[in-house]
Amino acid sequence: MPVHLHPLSVDWDLETAEKGGYDDFMTKEINEQPDAIRSTLLDRRRRDGTITFDELRISDEELRDVKRVVIVAAGTSHHAGLVAKYAIERWARVSVEVDIASEYRYRDPIVEIGTLVIGISQSGETIDTIQAIREAKRRGARVVAVTNIVESSLARESDAVIYTRAGLEVSVASTKVFLAQVAALELLALRLAQLRDTVPASDVDAHFLGLNAVAAQVATVLTRRSSVEDVAKQLLGARDFFFLGRHVGFPTALEGALKLKELSYLHAEGYPAGELKHGPLALIEPGVVVVAVVTDPAMHEKMLSNLAEVKARGATVVAVATDDDESIAAIADYVLRVPATEPMFSPMVDVVPLQLFAYAMARGLGRNIDRPRNLAKTVTVE
Ligand code: M6R
Repeated sequence: MPVHLHPLSVDWDLETAEKGGYDDFMTKEINEQPDAIRSTLLDRRRRDGTITFDELRISDEELRDVKRVVIVAAGTSHHAGLVAKYAIERWARVSVEVDIASEYRYRDPIVEIGTLVIGISQSGETIDTIQAIREAKRRGARVVAVTNIVESSLARESDAVIYTRAGLEVSVASTKVFLAQVAALELLALRLAQLRDTVPASDVDAHFLGLNAVAAQVATVLTRRSSVEDVAKQLLGARDFFFLGRHVGFPTALEGALKLKELSYLHAEGYPAGELKHGPLALIEPGVVVVAVVTDPAMHEKMLSNLAEVKARGATVVAVATDDDESIAAIADYVLRVPATEPMFSPMVDVVPLQLFAYAMARGLGRNIDRPRNLAKTVTVE
């Protein structure tokens, strides 16, 4: 019996379906951030409190005896590496060098016995990072990959691998993988501390709990999207942005600046706030926007004095500050509020309003969110 088929037109395509109802992949991926952290932390701690990485094929003895850590990565992954430096040095008491992957292989790097190289890459296919770990291996280093893609080139070529379990990231601007990378690396820092006995067991447990609280804090920030959009609306005419932070607020500032420049094509620079006086202050004048990460109580006073300096020169100040910070309103023109978190974990929370800000600015300027001009998701040629 003949079957009569009637064509049915649908007004969506495969890409729209994959976006799961969001306008773009970036929004989807920003909203997936709490899950990206939760998945990355899942099953990483045994009942006895030992932090464990099933995929890490390096013995405990070897990890314990590490003399020096070198991190190689590019872009957002490099910023995650900078956060890891603070955590590994603080908790595991091993000195850490963080290198831009494309610089590492051309500078005749020193690899001594006991050097552990960590290559961080969302895609695991970034040519600069792969070449850097090849160079490190040639010189005798043990290499750990931190990547989001199972069986990627970086994973295959490394001695060991830790997977960030953030799920596929499509948007050129990396978001959820940054949070997953920081979570995985801070966990590795705690594992190193356990092996080297540099942090009391009860403190490791407390840090682990703190790390697990981050997903909910990120979810809280995501509910505040509209207040970030309101700030972006006020600043749509601005053309120059300086992002400032101290301690782990510095890599957070770098990441905020990178998000803004790649998405909106506006001039944005990230600086350690203490460097301001060493040059950049000359560029501060009315019309310039200073975005400051002011969430760390230990850095608060210093940050406020930096902000007073830029205010005195006419800058507009946007501060990322905690919910309980009452003093910030006196100096900042706009405040992006976040829940307080353990300072070492704060980049995962504080970067979220900066991602939303960059997104809102780019949207306001009519930019292509998922495919910014001149950029590829993965850079596979030098
Ligand atoms: O795949 P990777 O993590 O190695 O990529 C590194 C950079 O190319 C990447 O983070 C780039 O900076 C992003 N577009 C930033 O959003």
